[in-house]
Amino acid sequence: MARTRPGRSCPRHYRYSPAVFARAADLKAQSLYIAGGLYGNPFALEAVLDLARRENATLVFNGDFNWFDADPTEFRKINDTVLRHVALRGNVETEIAGEDSGAGCGCGYPEWVGDGEVERSNEILERLRETARGFPDVRARVGGLPMHLVAEVGGLRVGIAHGDAESLAGWQFSQEALRERPERARAVLAGAAIDVFACTHTCLPVIQDFATPRGTALVVNNGAAGMPNFRDTRFGLATRIASVPSGQALYGARLGAIVVEAVPVRYDHDAWLARFDQVWPAGSPAALSYRRRIVSGPVYDVEQALRTGSPTGALPRAA
Ligand SMILES: [Fe+2]
Repeated sequence: MARTRPGRSCPRHYRYSPAVFARAADLKAQSLYIAGGLYGNPFALEAVLDLARRENATLVFNGDFNWFDADPTEFRKINDTVLRHVALRGNVETEIAGEDSGAGCGCGYPEWVGDGEVERSNEILERLRETARGFPDVRARVGGLPMHLVAEVGGLRVGIAHGDAESLAGWQFSQEALRERPERARAVLAGAAIDVFACTHTCLPVIQDFATPRGTALVVNNGAAGMPNFRDTRFGLATRIASVPSGQALYGARLGAIVVEAVPVRYDHDAWLARFDQVWPAGSPAALSYRRRIVSGPVYDVEQALRTGSPTGALPRAA
């Protein structure tokens, strides 16, 4: 049965109720960066830290900061640096923290992702877990990270998770599911008392608005901070939520007095590609699945990611 195959399943312990987000904020920020899917790219990590530092913003890593960092020195450095900040665990951190639970990479891949890719993800995870075994302290720390967080920015309630509002590895907030089944996301947002839901995990970015009883709500998926997200581009993306717009945003939407934006994570591409090729040479599972995307981006364009009624104007929002 498909749901029990490694890489396809969504383990029970990955799940939570959308009601967990209907709680007092865990943190308040003036300016908030959310960087999911760093995927072990140390140059993207530097770039994200730099973005946040420049405006003294709060930084949240919402999971999968590990993936390509199978080199032990890199693994140590990535985790030590990320764990100085607020962090949630993704499926990668959850799976490397423990031994094989039968979930494979824990990605919970939907039917539109091919079997070859799923198999290679399981192999990447196996290699990364082997590296992680050398760092029991890191395994304990990443395994103990929370799965969700509620932040407040200028009165907006921001729900942050790795996958969606119900699962660490959920795909309901993927660009595909938001296009095909927006009603499910709308129902979940209404139940979670959240104005902005920030997620990652599904590898492609999207920002989409929804009418809920609380007013307009947004789902913002940053795609990947550590990999290109658009055709013929070589930068990652982070989500930024603040009262003052960023001069660097690629696109965004306004919700009352607050802007929710996709900000490019401009890392040193050549240095990253050289590092990637060292760790994952031609023929390796990561090279087969990801090298093309690292070099020239996925087949996806900015226009496909931006799905708000009034991207440049103010969206209506209930008081
Ligand atoms: Fe993920």
